[in-house]
Amino acid sequence: MDQQVTLIATAAMGLEAIVSKEVKELGYENVQVENGRVVFTADVSAIPRANLWLRTADRVKLLVGKFKAVTFDDLFEKTKALPWENFITEDGEFPVVGKSVKSKLYSVPDCQSIVKKAIVERLKKKYGVASWLKETGAFYRVEIALHKDEALLTIDTSGSGLHKRGYRVGQGEAPLKETLAAALVQVTNWHPDEPFVDPFCGSGTIAIEAALIGQNIAPGFNREFASEDWSFIPQKAWDEAFQEAEECANYDQPLNITGSDIDPDLIDIAKNNAMEAGLGDLVTWKQMQVRDFKPKQENGYLVSNPPYGERMGERPEVEEMYRDLGVIMRDHPSWSVYVLTSHEGFEKLYGKEATKKRKLFNGFIKTDYYQYFGKKIR
Ligand SMILES: C[S@@+](CC[C@H](N)C(=O)[O-])C[C@H]1O[C@@H](n2cnc3c(N)ncnc32)[C@H](O)[C@@H]1O
Repeated sequence: MDQQVTLIATAAMGLEAIVSKEVKELGYENVQVENGRVVFTADVSAIPRANLWLRTADRVKLLVGKFKAVTFDDLFEKTKALPWENFITEDGEFPVVGKSVKSKLYSVPDCQSIVKKAIVERLKKKYGVASWLKETGAFYRVEIALHKDEALLTIDTSGSGLHKRGYRVGQGEAPLKETLAAALVQVTNWHPDEPFVDPFCGSGTIAIEAALIGQNIAPGFNREFASEDWSFIPQKAWDEAFQEAEECANYDQPLNITGSDIDPDLIDIAKNNAMEAGLGDLVTWKQMQVRDFKPKQENGYLVSNPPYGERMGERPEVEEMYRDLGVIMRDHPSWSVYVLTSHEGFEKLYGKEATKKRKLFNGFIKTDYYQYFGKKIR
């Protein structure tokens, strides 16, 4: 496990600092934050650990090499010079995907086939194969990403994106990505002993992510990763990472989390998703319209992704909901309120300026995360 690797945890725009904090909490130092990614160096056991634990990263990629490339010759020779045999086995299957932004080498299909040829040549030489590589073994998705003539060659260690926790068996019309939902919870100061409510819970993503965070359950516990089949990562590293996840989970932590929604079908879906996540009935689900929400305890957290009112005819109704929410929460100053919406008039409708705002993308939709810090009653 001594082999050092450089890993890239990719992050949605605006989430880089949160991903970086998570990487550091896993014990990794030497962490660099860049646009859309967090780069860190660690021994190979970081591949299982990062995949299992990172709640807000999209994927974990293994950096094979980085260099300037302005001609196809450059790209071929410098790709061939990288130690691919350290990662890809003789029978490994390695499709190459690509992207190119603001670079002289702009034809992505050409870059992909050149990278493929260069790796094939390298591996054939290293493994002493005269004919062709069989590609019947483990799967390695290689990516060539060119940005301003800098080529970044990576192998994806995750497989499906890390947002696929394996619990979402059903969803509503506008489900939040699990990674973003986790980030919404992470930026609050919520402690699992305190009440937590999402009154527009839809398929339950925010409440489920809060429960996983509350009991310190590794988000990747229920799924598989592409790199589980890679021979350069000792099986022991995977076994230890899963064992660590089991030991760190605090199933005794009581939770006070409620998800409610106006749509009863979504409540059924949220319940099923929570079951799939292994949460049993730890989260309380309730069919209710937001207007009927009444906080019954102090020092709670409301974290929500309400409708944005972007569809025709929906706006007046949505604005009414924001007003209703503002009126309800005005009487509960010990509650902290966090709302993600693209509606720029949110603060006006809610009736109060946010303590803090953070720009985030929900998919392609530009949103603000409005944060109102409660005055806690001790
Ligand atoms: C953007 S979706 C939330 C999606 C959710 N975060 C998820 O991951 O599935 C907004 C939700 O608000 C619910 N909703 C709409 N009007 C409501 C109201 N007046 N009271 C409560 N919920 C309402 C919708 O049924 C929908 O599920």
